[in-house]
Amino acid sequence: MEKNILKIGIIGLGVVGTGVVKTLFGFDNIEIKKIAVRNINKKRGVDFKNLTTDPFEIANDPEIDVVVEVAGGIDPCLEVFKTAIKNKKHIVTANKELLAKHGDEIFSLANENNVTVLYEAAVAGGIPIIGPIKTTLRGNSFNKVMGILNGTTNYILTKMEEDGLSYEECLKQAQALGYAEADPTNDVEGFDTMFKIAILANIVFRKKIDYTKIYREGISKITSTDIRFADELGYKIKLLGLAQKTNEGSLDIRVHPVLVSASSTISKINNATNTVLLEGYPVGSVMFTGPGAGEAPTASSVVGDILAIASEISYTDTILPSSRVRNYENAVQEDILSTKNSYYIAINAQNAIGVIGAIGSICAKNNINLQSIIQKGIKEDNTAFIVVITESAFEADIQNTIKELKAKNINVTSLIRVI
Ligand code: HSE
Repeated sequence: MEKNILKIGIIGLGVVGTGVVKTLFGFDNIEIKKIAVRNINKKRGVDFKNLTTDPFEIANDPEIDVVVEVAGGIDPCLEVFKTAIKNKKHIVTANKELLAKHGDEIFSLANENNVTVLYEAAVAGGIPIIGPIKTTLRGNSFNKVMGILNGTTNYILTKMEEDGLSYEECLKQAQALGYAEADPTNDVEGFDTMFKIAILANIVFRKKIDYTKIYREGISKITSTDIRFADELGYKIKLLGLAQKTNEGSLDIRVHPVLVSASSTISKINNATNTVLLEGYPVGSVMFTGPGAGEAPTASSVVGDILAIASEISYTDTILPSSRVRNYENAVQEDILSTKNSYYIAINAQNAIGVIGAIGSICAKNNINLQSIIQKGIKEDNTAFIVVITESAFEADIQNTIKELKAKNINVTSLIRVI
């Protein structure tokens, strides 16, 4: 590296890449040597001439000190990272999927080669969260990390509730605003949140997390009726990523929509805003809130990591978060069936004598105590829509209840956990 100039190569010049390049134009100690893109001829929001379609040119370029990856996906990023790390290049990445699936391999290789992998942008966009967990909060023993970790789904749920718009309309708006992934399935079905909670749980609990064992549900089955009933009962619906320690020391990690009390702070985190809540000793409870997606906020985290590396090799005064990742033990991960929750259960049943009685007795047989039950008249098709809120119950008992209700033609149309 030439004196005072950190040379970087960037992989990806989409929404986030464009934001990174624009921001870096303001720093004279960073030189962008080359950017790898899929399509050289595509019109872009920044004027940068030295483009290539081969990301390995960047990984193998002896002049490049840092590979910055903002393209997403596994292929070719994993192989590009391995090549770059073996060539002693530092990595800055926003790739949550790659880290959740192959983080262990990447971090081990980085440690062997004495280079740094920084990934502040991979979780919660512009919110500084990886750095604080690894540095200023290091003295804590945590029992919980939980948050709204996906801007697209939070935007959709907010707009469905506030503006009464359809799911499809809200998704289109989120895409137009640059929040959604190239394939929004990752957002709406909870995969994006799953990768992010896997990364957070790894550094918070210092264990290896198997992302395939994380229970995952997205928001595509949430109806405007659920949103209305939740509102009436004093709740908002949010998609949460949650990782908590059980009394036995195992980890309960999951992603699913939840009903949160309308008076809670988390219920007021709207649009593409993300939030991360940590509970530990001695700090108690801390919450980080900010922009979770989009060009500028994500660029903020990527550029912060680039400057941190520049600082580590003594070319600026920026403070470097401690970056090494140890090879932790495997976590013992709980199955959703053994967790305990309260539930919102929406039911559609033929109008008949004894339906509410049948619901009550099937719930009682499965150790489920009911907290509220609402039926509002009979619909034109002679069916009844009934909403039940339970007290805390085992998921396995709830699943059994749903099966037994179905056998009596009482259909559960929505099941949402309540916290
Ligand atoms: N698509 C993500 C979101 C942003 O909507 O939050 C990048 O993780």
